[in-house]
Amino acid sequence: MNSSRVTETASGQSTEMVTKHTGHLFPWVKPYYREPIVLSDAEGVWVRDLEGREYLDFFAGILTTSIGHCHPDVTSAVEAQLHRIGHTSPLYVTEPQVLAAEQLARLAPGDLRRSAFTNSGTEAIETALAAACIYTGRSEIIALRQGYSGRSALATNLTGHASWRPLPTQVAGIKHARAPYTYRSPLGPGAAEEEQTDFFIDDLVDVIESATGGRPAALLAETIQGVGGFIVPPRGYLWRAAEVIRSYGGLLISDEVQTGFGRTGKVWFGIEHAGVVPDIMVMAKGIANGFPVGATITTDEIAEAWTGHSISTFGGNPISMAAAVATMTVMQREDVRTLCEARGAQVRVEMERLCSDFDWIGEVRGMGLMQAMEIVDHPETRRPDAARAQALLEAARDENLLVGVGGRYGHVVRMGPSMLVTEEEVDEAMARLARACLAADDAL
Ligand SMILES: Cc1ncc(COP(=O)(O)O)c(C=O)c1O
Repeated sequence: MNSSRVTETASGQSTEMVTKHTGHLFPWVKPYYREPIVLSDAEGVWVRDLEGREYLDFFAGILTTSIGHCHPDVTSAVEAQLHRIGHTSPLYVTEPQVLAAEQLARLAPGDLRRSAFTNSGTEAIETALAAACIYTGRSEIIALRQGYSGRSALATNLTGHASWRPLPTQVAGIKHARAPYTYRSPLGPGAAEEEQTDFFIDDLVDVIESATGGRPAALLAETIQGVGGFIVPPRGYLWRAAEVIRSYGGLLISDEVQTGFGRTGKVWFGIEHAGVVPDIMVMAKGIANGFPVGATITTDEIAEAWTGHSISTFGGNPISMAAAVATMTVMQREDVRTLCEARGAQVRVEMERLCSDFDWIGEVRGMGLMQAMEIVDHPETRRPDAARAQALLEAARDENLLVGVGGRYGHVVRMGPSMLVTEEEVDEAMARLARACLAADDAL
Protein backbone atom coordinates (compact mmCIF):
# COMPACT_ATOMS: atom_id res chain seq x y z
CA MET A 1 0.00 0.00 0.00
CA ASN A 2 1.21 3.49 -0.76
CA SER A 3 2.37 4.71 2.64
CA SER A 4 2.34 8.35 1.56
CA ARG A 5 -1.45 8.13 1.52
CA VAL A 6 -1.65 6.78 5.04
CA THR A 7 -3.16 9.14 7.58
CA GLU A 8 -1.20 9.37 10.80
CA THR A 9 -3.70 9.20 13.61
CA ALA A 10 -3.51 8.66 17.29
CA SER A 11 -5.02 5.50 18.71
CA GLY A 12 -8.51 6.21 19.99
CA GLN A 13 -9.59 8.23 17.00
CA SER A 14 -11.47 5.20 15.70
CA THR A 15 -13.51 5.00 18.89
CA GLU A 16 -14.44 8.64 18.56
CA MET A 17 -15.41 8.15 14.91
CA VAL A 18 -17.58 5.13 15.75
CA THR A 19 -19.32 7.10 18.52
CA LYS A 20 -20.05 9.94 16.09
CA HIS A 21 -21.20 7.45 13.44
CA THR A 22 -23.67 5.94 15.88
CA GLY A 23 -24.86 9.36 16.99
CA HIS A 24 -25.36 10.92 13.58
CA LEU A 25 -26.40 8.11 11.25
CA PHE A 26 -29.56 6.03 11.05
CA PRO A 27 -29.24 2.79 13.03
CA TRP A 28 -29.52 0.74 9.84
CA VAL A 29 -26.22 2.21 8.61
CA LYS A 30 -24.76 -0.57 10.71
CA PRO A 31 -21.12 -1.61 10.42
CA TYR A 32 -19.86 -5.15 10.96
CA TYR A 33 -18.03 -6.29 14.12
CA ARG A 34 -18.38 -5.85 17.88
CA GLU A 35 -15.91 -3.01 17.51
CA PRO A 36 -16.45 -1.53 14.05
CA ILE A 37 -13.48 -0.93 11.78
CA VAL A 38 -12.89 2.63 10.56
CA LEU A 39 -11.26 2.28 7.15
CA SER A 40 -9.16 5.10 5.80
CA ASP A 41 -6.85 3.87 3.02
CA ALA A 42 -6.71 1.05 0.53
CA GLU A 43 -4.88 -0.42 -2.43
CA GLY A 44 -5.68 -3.62 -4.33
CA VAL A 45 -6.95 -6.19 -1.84
CA TRP A 46 -5.41 -4.37 1.13
CA VAL A 47 -7.20 -1.88 3.34
CA ARG A 48 -5.95 0.06 6.33
CA ASP A 49 -7.82 1.38 9.35
CA LEU A 50 -7.37 4.68 11.16
CA GLU A 51 -5.01 3.05 13.63
CA GLY A 52 -2.72 1.90 10.80
CA ARG A 53 -3.68 -1.78 10.96
CA GLU A 54 -3.76 -3.53 7.58
CA TYR A 55 -6.30 -6.12 6.51
CA LEU A 56 -6.67 -8.41 3.54
CA ASP A 57 -10.04 -7.43 2.10
CA PHE A 58 -11.84 -10.56 0.87
CA PHE A 59 -15.27 -8.98 0.76
CA ALA A 60 -14.35 -5.97 -1.41
CA GLY A 61 -17.08 -3.63 -0.18
CA ILE A 62 -19.61 -6.39 -0.93
CA LEU A 63 -18.04 -7.66 -4.17
CA THR A 64 -17.79 -4.12 -5.45
CA THR A 65 -14.12 -3.12 -5.71
CA SER A 66 -14.04 -5.62 -8.52
CA ILE A 67 -10.53 -4.83 -9.78
CA GLY A 68 -9.12 -3.75 -6.42
CA HIS A 69 -9.19 -0.61 -4.32
CA CYS A 70 -7.88 2.56 -5.95
CA HIS A 71 -7.00 0.86 -9.23
CA PRO A 72 -4.70 3.37 -10.96
CA ASP A 73 -6.59 3.20 -14.29
CA VAL A 74 -9.87 4.04 -12.57
CA THR A 75 -8.33 6.73 -10.41
CA SER A 76 -6.72 8.48 -13.37
CA ALA A 77 -9.86 8.20 -15.54
CA VAL A 78 -11.95 9.74 -12.77
CA GLU A 79 -9.37 12.44 -12.07
CA ALA A 80 -9.16 13.37 -15.75
CA GLN A 81 -12.95 13.49 -16.05
CA LEU A 82 -13.24 15.65 -12.92
CA HIS A 83 -11.06 18.25 -14.59
CA ARG A 84 -13.20 18.22 -17.74
CA ILE A 85 -16.87 18.05 -16.72
CA GLY A 86 -18.32 16.49 -13.59
CA HIS A 87 -22.04 16.72 -14.18
CA THR A 88 -24.37 17.34 -17.06
CA SER A 89 -27.69 15.58 -16.25
CA PRO A 90 -29.23 13.32 -18.92
CA LEU A 91 -30.36 16.42 -20.84
CA TYR A 92 -27.05 16.34 -22.73
CA VAL A 93 -25.07 13.63 -24.48
CA THR A 94 -21.72 12.75 -22.95
CA GLU A 95 -18.90 10.63 -24.28
CA PRO A 96 -18.35 8.59 -21.07
CA GLN A 97 -21.99 7.45 -20.97
CA VAL A 98 -21.98 6.49 -24.64
CA LEU A 99 -18.70 4.59 -24.21
CA ALA A 100 -20.02 2.78 -21.13
CA ALA A 101 -23.21 1.73 -22.96
CA GLU A 102 -21.15 0.58 -25.94
CA GLN A 103 -18.83 -1.52 -23.72
CA LEU A 104 -21.76 -3.04 -21.88
CA ALA A 105 -23.47 -4.03 -25.12
CA ARG A 106 -20.24 -5.70 -26.21
CA LEU A 107 -20.01 -7.75 -23.01
CA ALA A 108 -23.70 -8.61 -22.63
CA PRO A 109 -25.02 -11.81 -24.21
CA GLY A 110 -27.31 -12.01 -27.26
CA ASP A 111 -29.06 -8.90 -28.46
CA LEU A 112 -29.01 -7.03 -25.16
CA ARG A 113 -27.77 -3.65 -26.28
CA ARG A 114 -29.86 -0.81 -24.85
CA SER A 115 -28.87 0.45 -21.42
CA ALA A 116 -30.19 2.78 -18.76
CA PHE A 117 -27.76 3.99 -16.10
CA THR A 118 -28.78 4.83 -12.56
CA ASN A 119 -26.97 5.08 -9.22
CA SER A 120 -27.53 1.76 -7.46
CA GLY A 121 -28.64 -1.82 -7.85
CA THR A 122 -31.99 -0.88 -6.32
CA GLU A 123 -32.65 1.65 -9.07
CA ALA A 124 -31.45 -0.76 -11.74
CA ILE A 125 -33.97 -3.31 -10.45
CA GLU A 126 -36.73 -0.69 -10.43
CA THR A 127 -35.85 0.18 -14.04
CA ALA A 128 -35.94 -3.47 -15.10
CA LEU A 129 -39.29 -4.09 -13.47
CA ALA A 130 -40.78 -0.96 -15.00
CA ALA A 131 -39.48 -1.95 -18.45
CA ALA A 132 -40.95 -5.46 -18.09
CA CYS A 133 -44.34 -4.17 -16.96
CA ILE A 134 -44.48 -1.52 -19.69
CA TYR A 135 -43.46 -3.97 -22.42
CA THR A 136 -45.83 -6.78 -21.39
CA GLY A 137 -48.66 -4.54 -20.21
CA ARG A 138 -48.78 -6.75 -17.13
CA SER A 139 -48.06 -6.15 -13.47
CA GLU A 140 -47.44 -9.41 -11.65
CA ILE A 141 -43.84 -10.30 -10.82
CA ILE A 142 -42.38 -13.59 -9.68
CA ALA A 143 -39.33 -13.29 -7.41
CA LEU A 144 -37.46 -15.96 -5.48
CA ARG A 145 -37.38 -16.48 -1.74
CA GLN A 146 -33.94 -15.70 -0.23
CA GLY A 147 -33.40 -13.22 -3.05
CA TYR A 148 -32.26 -9.67 -2.33
CA SER A 149 -33.22 -6.74 -4.55
CA GLY A 150 -32.45 -3.56 -2.63
CA ARG A 151 -33.97 -1.00 -0.32
CA SER A 152 -36.80 0.86 -2.12
CA ALA A 153 -40.42 -0.03 -1.42
CA LEU A 154 -40.56 -2.22 -4.52
CA ALA A 155 -37.13 -3.77 -3.96
CA THR A 156 -37.80 -4.68 -0.33
CA ASN A 157 -41.05 -6.31 -1.39
CA LEU A 158 -39.19 -8.30 -4.04
CA THR A 159 -36.66 -9.37 -1.42
CA GLY A 160 -37.23 -12.79 0.08
CA HIS A 161 -35.82 -12.31 3.60
CA ALA A 162 -37.99 -11.03 6.46
CA SER A 163 -35.04 -9.28 8.05
CA TRP A 164 -34.40 -7.20 4.90
CA ARG A 165 -38.07 -6.17 4.59
CA PRO A 166 -38.44 -3.65 7.43
CA LEU A 167 -40.66 -1.23 5.49
CA PRO A 168 -44.36 -1.20 6.35
CA THR A 169 -45.14 -0.51 2.66
CA GLN A 170 -46.72 -3.49 0.92
CA VAL A 171 -46.42 -3.68 -2.87
CA ALA A 172 -49.10 -5.83 -4.48
CA GLY A 173 -48.51 -8.24 -7.35
CA ILE A 174 -45.25 -9.86 -6.21
CA LYS A 175 -45.22 -13.61 -5.59
CA HIS A 176 -42.25 -15.61 -4.38
CA ALA A 177 -41.34 -19.06 -5.63
CA ARG A 178 -38.98 -21.32 -3.71
CA ALA A 179 -35.30 -20.48 -3.87
CA PRO A 180 -33.41 -23.23 -5.72
CA TYR A 181 -31.55 -23.94 -2.49
CA THR A 182 -30.49 -27.57 -2.70
CA TYR A 183 -28.80 -27.69 0.72
CA ARG A 184 -32.11 -26.84 2.39
CA SER A 185 -34.39 -28.54 -0.11
CA PRO A 186 -37.19 -30.70 1.36
CA LEU A 187 -35.72 -33.46 -0.83
CA GLY A 188 -32.55 -33.32 1.29
CA PRO A 189 -29.14 -32.06 0.22
CA GLY A 190 -28.17 -35.50 -1.07
CA ALA A 191 -30.97 -35.71 -3.67
CA ALA A 192 -29.91 -35.95 -7.32
CA GLU A 193 -29.46 -32.60 -9.05
CA GLU A 194 -32.09 -33.37 -11.75
CA GLU A 195 -34.60 -34.26 -9.05
CA GLN A 196 -33.87 -30.98 -7.27
CA THR A 197 -34.30 -29.03 -10.51
CA ASP A 198 -37.66 -30.75 -11.20
CA PHE A 199 -38.81 -29.96 -7.68
CA PHE A 200 -37.98 -26.25 -7.83
CA ILE A 201 -39.35 -25.84 -11.36
CA ASP A 202 -42.61 -27.53 -10.29
CA ASP A 203 -42.84 -25.00 -7.48
CA LEU A 204 -42.30 -22.09 -9.89
CA VAL A 205 -45.11 -23.38 -12.11
CA ASP A 206 -47.31 -23.92 -9.08
CA VAL A 207 -46.78 -20.33 -7.87
CA ILE A 208 -47.68 -18.93 -11.30
CA GLU A 209 -50.71 -21.21 -11.59
CA SER A 210 -52.02 -20.71 -8.07
CA ALA A 211 -50.84 -17.34 -6.75
CA THR A 212 -51.08 -15.17 -9.89
CA GLY A 213 -53.63 -14.62 -12.62
CA GLY A 214 -51.38 -16.69 -14.89
CA ARG A 215 -50.13 -13.60 -16.75
CA PRO A 216 -46.83 -12.67 -15.07
CA ALA A 217 -44.81 -9.76 -16.44
CA ALA A 218 -41.49 -11.27 -15.38
CA LEU A 219 -39.44 -13.61 -13.28
CA LEU A 220 -36.65 -11.84 -11.43
CA ALA A 221 -33.78 -14.15 -10.46
CA GLU A 222 -30.21 -13.74 -9.26
CA THR A 223 -28.04 -16.28 -11.02
CA ILE A 224 -26.39 -17.00 -7.65
CA GLN A 225 -28.31 -15.59 -4.69
CA GLY A 226 -25.75 -13.31 -3.08
CA VAL A 227 -27.23 -12.01 0.17
CA GLY A 228 -29.02 -15.37 0.42
CA GLY A 229 -25.60 -16.95 1.03
CA PHE A 230 -24.24 -17.64 -2.47
CA ILE A 231 -27.00 -20.11 -3.28
CA VAL A 232 -26.12 -21.77 -6.58
CA PRO A 233 -29.17 -23.19 -8.42
CA PRO A 234 -29.00 -26.84 -9.50
CA ARG A 235 -28.01 -27.50 -13.11
CA GLY A 236 -30.83 -26.81 -15.55
CA TYR A 237 -32.88 -24.67 -13.15
CA LEU A 238 -32.31 -21.26 -14.75
CA TRP A 239 -32.66 -22.61 -18.28
CA ARG A 240 -35.97 -24.26 -17.43
CA ALA A 241 -37.14 -21.27 -15.36
CA ALA A 242 -36.60 -19.10 -18.46
CA GLU A 243 -38.69 -21.54 -20.49
CA VAL A 244 -41.44 -21.52 -17.87
CA ILE A 245 -41.76 -17.75 -17.54
CA ARG A 246 -41.67 -17.29 -21.31
CA SER A 247 -44.33 -19.96 -21.81
CA TYR A 248 -46.61 -17.72 -19.72
CA GLY A 249 -45.69 -14.68 -21.81
CA GLY A 250 -43.40 -13.14 -19.17
CA LEU A 251 -39.79 -11.97 -19.35
CA LEU A 252 -36.69 -13.26 -17.61
CA ILE A 253 -34.83 -10.58 -15.66
CA SER A 254 -31.39 -11.73 -14.62
CA ASP A 255 -30.00 -9.91 -11.60
CA GLU A 256 -26.24 -9.81 -12.13
CA VAL A 257 -25.54 -7.24 -9.43
CA GLN A 258 -23.21 -9.67 -7.64
CA THR A 259 -22.58 -12.25 -10.37
CA GLY A 260 -21.75 -9.95 -13.27
CA PHE A 261 -18.47 -9.08 -14.98
CA GLY A 262 -16.63 -12.36 -14.80
CA ARG A 263 -17.13 -12.90 -11.06
CA THR A 264 -18.44 -16.49 -11.50
CA GLY A 265 -15.55 -17.49 -13.80
CA LYS A 266 -15.43 -18.44 -17.52
CA VAL A 267 -18.25 -16.09 -18.62
CA TRP A 268 -19.06 -12.40 -18.22
CA PHE A 269 -22.50 -12.89 -16.64
CA GLY A 270 -23.74 -15.69 -14.39
CA ILE A 271 -26.77 -16.42 -16.55
CA GLU A 272 -24.47 -17.47 -19.40
CA HIS A 273 -23.57 -20.64 -17.46
CA ALA A 274 -27.21 -21.66 -17.96
CA GLY A 275 -27.03 -21.08 -21.73
CA VAL A 276 -29.80 -18.50 -21.49
CA VAL A 277 -30.01 -14.98 -22.90
CA PRO A 278 -32.25 -13.07 -20.51
CA ASP A 279 -34.69 -10.42 -21.71
CA ILE A 280 -33.36 -7.87 -19.25
CA MET A 281 -30.18 -7.84 -17.18
CA VAL A 282 -29.44 -5.78 -14.08
CA MET A 283 -25.96 -4.78 -12.90
CA ALA A 284 -24.38 -2.58 -10.23
CA LYS A 285 -21.68 -3.20 -7.56
CA GLY A 286 -18.52 -4.17 -9.50
CA ILE A 287 -19.32 -2.37 -12.75
CA ALA A 288 -17.42 0.80 -11.76
CA ASN A 289 -15.07 -0.54 -9.06
CA GLY A 290 -16.92 1.23 -6.27
CA PHE A 291 -18.32 4.29 -8.00
CA PRO A 292 -22.13 4.41 -7.77
CA VAL A 293 -23.51 2.94 -10.99
CA GLY A 294 -26.58 0.84 -11.62
CA ALA A 295 -27.23 -0.47 -15.12
CA THR A 296 -30.17 -2.13 -16.81
CA ILE A 297 -29.70 -3.59 -20.26
CA THR A 298 -32.28 -5.01 -22.62
CA THR A 299 -33.22 -5.44 -26.28
CA ASP A 300 -34.20 -2.67 -28.71
CA GLU A 301 -37.76 -3.94 -28.69
CA ILE A 302 -38.22 -3.88 -24.92
CA ALA A 303 -36.40 -0.55 -24.50
CA GLU A 304 -38.44 1.11 -27.24
CA ALA A 305 -41.74 0.14 -25.64
CA TRP A 306 -40.91 2.65 -22.87
CA THR A 307 -41.98 5.87 -24.55
CA GLY A 308 -43.06 7.83 -21.45
CA HIS A 309 -40.90 10.27 -19.49
CA SER A 310 -38.34 9.15 -16.94
CA ILE A 311 -35.14 10.75 -15.73
CA SER A 312 -32.35 10.20 -13.24
CA THR A 313 -30.46 13.42 -12.49
CA PHE A 314 -27.26 11.66 -11.51
CA GLY A 315 -27.79 8.52 -13.62
CA GLY A 316 -25.04 8.16 -16.20
CA ASN A 317 -23.07 11.08 -14.77
CA PRO A 318 -19.66 11.55 -16.39
CA ILE A 319 -17.57 10.71 -13.31
CA SER A 320 -19.27 7.38 -12.63
CA MET A 321 -19.32 6.57 -16.33
CA ALA A 322 -15.60 7.29 -16.67
CA ALA A 323 -15.05 4.89 -13.75
CA ALA A 324 -17.28 2.27 -15.41
CA VAL A 325 -15.46 2.53 -18.75
CA ALA A 326 -12.04 2.27 -17.08
CA THR A 327 -13.19 -0.68 -14.96
CA MET A 328 -14.68 -2.61 -17.88
CA THR A 329 -11.55 -1.92 -19.93
CA VAL A 330 -9.31 -3.39 -17.22
CA MET A 331 -11.66 -6.36 -16.79
CA GLN A 332 -11.33 -7.22 -20.47
CA ARG A 333 -7.61 -6.54 -20.69
CA GLU A 334 -6.87 -8.78 -17.69
CA ASP A 335 -9.60 -11.29 -18.63
CA VAL A 336 -11.05 -11.50 -15.15
CA ARG A 337 -13.25 -14.44 -16.24
CA THR A 338 -10.18 -16.66 -16.40
CA LEU A 339 -8.63 -15.18 -13.26
CA CYS A 340 -11.83 -15.78 -11.28
CA GLU A 341 -11.95 -19.38 -12.40
CA ALA A 342 -8.35 -20.02 -11.28
CA ARG A 343 -8.38 -18.02 -8.03
CA GLY A 344 -11.88 -19.30 -7.21
CA ALA A 345 -10.69 -22.91 -7.54
CA GLN A 346 -7.84 -22.08 -5.16
CA VAL A 347 -10.25 -20.68 -2.55
CA ARG A 348 -12.60 -23.61 -3.05
CA VAL A 349 -9.98 -26.30 -2.43
CA GLU A 350 -9.03 -24.68 0.87
CA MET A 351 -12.65 -24.19 1.96
CA GLU A 352 -13.39 -27.86 1.15
CA ARG A 353 -10.43 -28.85 3.30
CA LEU A 354 -11.77 -26.73 6.16
CA CYS A 355 -15.18 -28.31 5.64
CA SER A 356 -13.70 -31.76 6.21
CA ASP A 357 -11.86 -30.49 9.34
CA PHE A 358 -14.78 -28.72 11.03
CA ASP A 359 -18.17 -30.41 11.23
CA TRP A 360 -19.88 -27.03 11.71
CA ILE A 361 -19.12 -26.16 8.08
CA GLY A 362 -22.18 -27.74 6.50
CA GLU A 363 -21.57 -26.89 2.87
CA VAL A 364 -19.09 -25.04 0.69
CA ARG A 365 -20.58 -23.52 -2.44
CA GLY A 366 -20.22 -20.83 -5.04
CA MET A 367 -18.67 -20.25 -8.43
CA GLY A 368 -15.51 -18.44 -9.44
CA LEU A 369 -14.47 -15.82 -6.91
CA MET A 370 -17.78 -16.00 -5.07
CA GLN A 371 -17.36 -18.75 -2.48
CA ALA A 372 -19.16 -19.37 0.80
CA MET A 373 -19.35 -21.72 3.76
CA GLU A 374 -22.72 -22.42 5.37
CA ILE A 375 -22.28 -22.69 9.14
CA VAL A 376 -24.49 -25.21 10.94
CA ASP A 377 -24.77 -26.79 14.38
CA HIS A 378 -24.07 -30.28 13.01
CA PRO A 379 -23.87 -31.87 9.53
CA GLU A 380 -26.87 -34.11 10.30
CA THR A 381 -29.27 -31.59 11.88
CA ARG A 382 -28.03 -28.70 9.69
CA ARG A 383 -29.51 -26.00 11.92
CA PRO A 384 -28.14 -22.58 10.90
CA ASP A 385 -25.50 -21.43 13.42
CA ALA A 386 -25.31 -17.65 13.22
CA ALA A 387 -23.38 -17.41 16.50
CA ARG A 388 -20.53 -19.54 15.11
CA ALA A 389 -20.58 -17.55 11.85
CA GLN A 390 -20.24 -14.33 13.88
CA ALA A 391 -17.41 -15.89 15.90
CA LEU A 392 -15.68 -16.76 12.63
CA LEU A 393 -16.19 -13.23 11.27
CA GLU A 394 -14.59 -11.80 14.43
CA ALA A 395 -11.80 -14.40 14.45
CA ALA A 396 -10.99 -13.59 10.82
CA ARG A 397 -10.80 -9.92 11.78
CA ASP A 398 -8.35 -10.86 14.53
CA GLU A 399 -6.29 -12.44 11.72
CA ASN A 400 -6.57 -9.18 9.74
CA LEU A 401 -8.84 -10.79 7.17
CA LEU A 402 -12.15 -9.23 6.12
CA VAL A 403 -14.93 -11.57 5.02
CA GLY A 404 -18.71 -11.20 4.82
CA VAL A 405 -21.74 -12.95 6.22
CA GLY A 406 -25.07 -13.69 4.58
CA GLY A 407 -27.88 -16.20 4.52
CA ARG A 408 -31.30 -15.84 6.11
CA TYR A 409 -29.88 -15.98 9.64
CA GLY A 410 -26.46 -14.47 8.95
CA HIS A 411 -25.03 -17.98 9.13
CA VAL A 412 -23.14 -18.09 5.83
CA VAL A 413 -19.57 -16.79 5.61
CA ARG A 414 -18.89 -15.29 2.20
CA MET A 415 -15.80 -14.33 0.25
CA GLY A 416 -15.61 -12.22 -2.90
CA PRO A 417 -12.31 -10.34 -3.20
CA SER A 418 -11.06 -8.21 -6.05
CA MET A 419 -10.94 -10.28 -9.22
CA LEU A 420 -7.29 -9.24 -9.63
CA VAL A 421 -6.27 -10.87 -6.35
CA THR A 422 -2.99 -12.77 -6.78
CA GLU A 423 -2.29 -16.43 -6.10
CA GLU A 424 -0.07 -15.43 -3.14
CA GLU A 425 -2.74 -13.18 -1.68
CA VAL A 426 -5.28 -16.02 -1.90
CA ASP A 427 -2.81 -18.36 -0.16
CA GLU A 428 -2.29 -15.78 2.57
CA ALA A 429 -6.04 -15.21 3.02
CA MET A 430 -6.75 -18.92 3.23
CA ALA A 431 -4.02 -19.42 5.83
CA ARG A 432 -5.63 -16.64 7.86
CA LEU A 433 -9.08 -18.21 7.37
CA ALA A 434 -7.78 -21.57 8.57
CA ARG A 435 -6.43 -19.99 11.77
CA ALA A 436 -9.71 -18.12 12.22
CA CYS A 437 -11.62 -21.41 11.90
CA LEU A 438 -9.49 -22.91 14.68
CA ALA A 439 -10.29 -19.91 16.89
CA ALA A 440 -14.01 -20.07 16.03
CA ASP A 441 -13.97 -23.78 16.85
CA ASP A 442 -12.84 -22.92 20.38
CA ALA A 443 -15.03 -19.85 20.70
CA LEU A 444 -18.37 -21.55 21.52
C1 LIG B 1 -28.40 -9.19 -6.09
C2 LIG B 1 -28.61 -7.78 -5.67
N1 LIG B 1 -29.52 -7.03 -6.30
C3 LIG B 1 -29.72 -5.74 -5.95
C4 LIG B 1 -29.03 -5.16 -4.92
C5 LIG B 1 -29.27 -3.72 -4.53
O1 LIG B 1 -28.15 -2.97 -4.83
P1 LIG B 1 -27.85 -1.56 -4.10
O2 LIG B 1 -27.47 -1.85 -2.70
O3 LIG B 1 -26.74 -0.99 -4.93
O4 LIG B 1 -29.11 -0.76 -4.20
C6 LIG B 1 -28.09 -5.91 -4.23
C7 LIG B 1 -27.32 -5.33 -3.10
O5 LIG B 1 -26.70 -6.01 -2.33
C8 LIG B 1 -27.87 -7.26 -4.60
O6 LIG B 1 -26.99 -8.03 -3.97
